[in-house]
Amino acid sequence: MTETLATETLAAAPASIARAAAVLRAGGLVAFPTETVYGLGADATNDRAVARIFEAKGRPRFNPLICHFPETAAAAEAVRFDARARALAEAFWPGPLTLVLPRAEACPASLLCSAGLDSLAVRVPDQPLARDLLRAVGRPLAAPSANRSGRVSPTIAAHVAAELDGRIELILDGGPCRVGLESTVVSLLGERPLLLRPGGLPAEALAEVLGEMPAAPAEDAPLASPGMLASHYAPERPLRLDALSVRSEEALLAFGPQVPAGAAATVNLSPAGDLGEAAARLFAALRDLDRPGISAIAVMPLPERGLGRAINDRLRRAAAPRDTAATGA
Ligand code: TXA
Ligand code: MG
Repeated sequence: MTETLATETLAAAPASIARAAAVLRAGGLVAFPTETVYGLGADATNDRAVARIFEAKGRPRFNPLICHFPETAAAAEAVRFDARARALAEAFWPGPLTLVLPRAEACPASLLCSAGLDSLAVRVPDQPLARDLLRAVGRPLAAPSANRSGRVSPTIAAHVAAELDGRIELILDGGPCRVGLESTVVSLLGERPLLLRPGGLPAEALAEVLGEMPAAPAEDAPLASPGMLASHYAPERPLRLDALSVRSEEALLAFGPQVPAGAAATVNLSPAGDLGEAAARLFAALRDLDRPGISAIAVMPLPERGLGRAINDRLRRAAAPRDTAATGA
């Protein structure tokens, strides 16, 4: 992050919500209270805005993000709900439960929210200010906890300010968070529900609705740590990293103003060399270039700084041999 922003803190009031909604719709970052912890919110449908979340947090890699909705009906349009999801949403939303489900065909959320996976984590928070904000924005909000990477989650506005002052536009102060612990994350991608993260909603409560305890993911299971889910992130065709030239049967993932000619197809992540722009385009570009008939996706080098570290981490995982990648090795 090169520029320093003047971070405003506003107390809960209708005018504050209107202002926060305007900032978010313009692609800005707003920290807001939920019942669990403060979230660092961005318009989930805006690639650049979502990329800025990783930048502000200083996250070394692209973990998938939870998308927040004002009500169940809106969440159910972004993912493919099944009977279990409907039952859990009915029982616990709004509330401290996050459901991981397959992305819907017409999912409006940025691919960056899914970190390249085919799934999306969704939740409806139980906090009046958060829901008023979500309604005012009219778009889902991607929001990880509003702390710097590697630090504990903030539960009062002052914690957020201490971590993110100068890195985000606005902090909405809604007082202390009621639950104070992140949401419980459950994956409904497989036959057996998986408890990906214990949190504000006890697993026993889930079991009452599901009729079974959600299973703990195996220690080495990819879903235990989505950031390590290399094989799922990987395009079908192999990646060739640090490419300074390109072959005619290769597709080229380019970066910066100087691009070698002759590739079968080229996508430039950022002709201007802007890492934020590159992050925002990364997952869509990989999908685009993963075309039948090409021998590999050649990837130009990106600088190992700022968001470049997260982008390179993701690219290295995608390029890793598939058998070891599956276990995150
Ligand atoms: O209480 C909460 O959940 C807070 C508030 C702000 O809503 N948010 C939060 O977000 O804790 P974050 O980014 O700090 O944690 C999100 C968790 C991570 O463990 C992440 O790996 C998991 O959810 N997650 C998100 N999307 C996923 C996906 N598609 N598949 C598997 N896990 C996912
Ligand atoms: Mg967190």
